[in-house]
Amino acid sequence: MTPDGAPADAPDAGYLPATDMPRFLREMSAFVGLDEADVALVRETAPLVLAREAELTAALYEHFLRFPFSAKFFLGPDGEPDAERIARRRHSLARWLRQTVEAAVTPESAYALLMMGLSHSHRPQGPGGVVPSHLMVGAMSLVQTALARAFEQELGDPRRALAASAAWNRWLLVQLAALQLGYLPARPV
Ligand code: HEM
Repeated sequence: MTPDGAPADAPDAGYLPATDMPRFLREMSAFVGLDEADVALVRETAPLVLAREAELTAALYEHFLRFPFSAKFFLGPDGEPDAERIARRRHSLARWLRQTVEAAVTPESAYALLMMGLSHSHRPQGPGGVVPSHLMVGAMSLVQTALARAFEQELGDPRRALAASAAWNRWLLVQLAALQLGYLPARPV
């Protein structure tokens, strides 16, 4: 029985997302309307996105350094940007991007997202402490905007650029939903 009295095996009993991340990602993808055409578009635009990987990660970290509340995670003991740490973080972000362009839900990629969320939300030590969830939302918005501009510049056809942006927006927010799980109490959905 669940706390509200429903039998645990009832069809709507729910499940803990962290116990079945591939299911969570599949259900979120269906909910935002990410269909096969979107998946194909994400994969087709992968070379364009990856060609801009260095530019994109540099722009994001420049942006983070502009605000004291996001810069504090990347400063050294002297209060100056820690170049080595920033290079490591840019490398991690690029790794995520390379996985994301594949637009595939595998157990490995799904649980990697959960771990990624946890590494931001459960961070009592380390410069800056826990990364607030709203900055994760903001960062995803920055990625969306950068990609929309890239598609507008590179794809020529405005309708195709719009379709690519829409597909990426759906997929990025599915990713964001998974990253947010690290911040939320474990609760059946
Ligand atoms: C689109 C959103 C973001 C993505 C995809 C992302 C991706 C990543 C990845 C892949 C890692 C490595 C984690 C691991 O090894 O498991 C990481 C670590 C980290 N990120 Fe992010 N990140 C995002 C947003 C942010 C923001 C907004 C901040 C702060 C302003 C931030 C600060 C950090 C820090 C401090 C770490 C090191 C965590 C630790 O101590 O292990 N990230 N990020």
